[in-house]
Amino acid sequence: MSGNLPIGIHDLSLATTQYVLMYEALAAQNGTSVAKYHWGIGQRSMSVPAADEDIVTMAAQAAAPVVARHGADRIRTVVFATETSVDQSKAAGIYVHSLLGLPSAARVVELKQACYSGTAALQFAIGLVHRDPSQQVLVIASDVSRYELGTAGEATQGAAAVAMLVGADPALVRIEEQSGMFTADIMDFWRPNYLTTALVDGRESISAYLQAVEGAWKDYTERGGRALDEFSAFCYHQPFTKMAYKAHRQLLQHCGHAAAEAEITRAIGHTTAYNAEIGNSYTASMYVGLAALLDHADDLTGQAIGFLSYGSGSVAEFFAGTVVPGYRAQLRSEAHREAIGRRKEIDYAKYRELHEWSFPADGGEHPVPRETAGPYRLAGLFGHKRVYAAR
Ligand code: HMG
Repeated sequence: MSGNLPIGIHDLSLATTQYVLMYEALAAQNGTSVAKYHWGIGQRSMSVPAADEDIVTMAAQAAAPVVARHGADRIRTVVFATETSVDQSKAAGIYVHSLLGLPSAARVVELKQACYSGTAALQFAIGLVHRDPSQQVLVIASDVSRYELGTAGEATQGAAAVAMLVGADPALVRIEEQSGMFTADIMDFWRPNYLTTALVDGRESISAYLQAVEGAWKDYTERGGRALDEFSAFCYHQPFTKMAYKAHRQLLQHCGHAAAEAEITRAIGHTTAYNAEIGNSYTASMYVGLAALLDHADDLTGQAIGFLSYGSGSVAEFFAGTVVPGYRAQLRSEAHREAIGRRKEIDYAKYRELHEWSFPADGGEHPVPRETAGPYRLAGLFGHKRVYAAR
């Protein structure tokens, strides 16, 4: 039994792609004012995977430094959250397990519920650690957000992975027990099995998200959660950074607080620093926000952070975490900035070529030319089998 043992995020590392598309290139292509992207949705650029990158290579890249720092001996479970899976049966985490040489005495599983499943993975991990506090769980959230070319959704693409080591006595953030949940059966965003790009009702998705914020918060407070003014910052799921502003404004108004822009920026501004450059990374997005907050805010020791995780369809959860003394010594701020800063800018033609590219479903031999400078790559599809390699 774990009693009141604190459990939470012991380490957190993010990875993104080889390429980046600037909004100037998209705006020039479709005749939109770039101000709409920069100010209207609050985005600066979008991460674009090379042909030999995917959710597995990003996940392995994010998780490798975590395993290098802590070892793998205590990792008994790998939970891989994604909504852009590479296989209908095999868990993507098994490729990561293999690339990182994790112990065979481990379980590996994949979770799906749109952008929410990263949080489901974290909560399930906490449950496992409660049962056996000697074990650690490697939680990975990795996604490539893709919409059809020429649609409104195209401007809200992106890609990234976050790896989190979850365990007892965490070095970064203790996750508190109370959670507020909200589920509603709606078709705001979805991707049928026969499509490689998501379908979305943009306006409907924004109002569904805002409704879910209220629903999850209501359940959280009814279960004895903290009061709004006890939080020093809030991490929201960020399909685009302006959505976090809309969400926090909604929460403040719902609670009868004045929703002054300066107060909203104070509460969430730091969380948007990486998402504005990366774009929507679905399951990883809220945890990319947490990484940015920890990397950029002044000392947060002992302070409470509110988390609002939303996944279309829809499921939302509000929960709280407390930042642990000494957390700053554990941060990977430089590596995170470098992962974003080293992406190579591509033009619209290259972006379009990558967007339209996919493997033929003929069971043939399809090697992928080396493009990524990252440590792991997709070497190809051979007889319907994906083959990954370390550089
Ligand atoms: P749109 O029709 O391209 O844009 O859709 P718009 O006309 O609504 O404009 C967007 C904002 O830019 C507006 O601000 C405009 O006023 C402003 P707002 O009214 O919202 O405050 N604007 C400008 N600002 C400055 N200068 C200008 C200018 N022009 C306009 N010149 C939309 C935008 C986000 C809906 C679209 O890109 C989309 O459908 N994206 C995909 C769906 C999405 O991201 N939904 C978010 C909520 S659902 C969610 O978060 C879940 C999700 O991550 C999936 C999952 O769970 O798996 C998506």
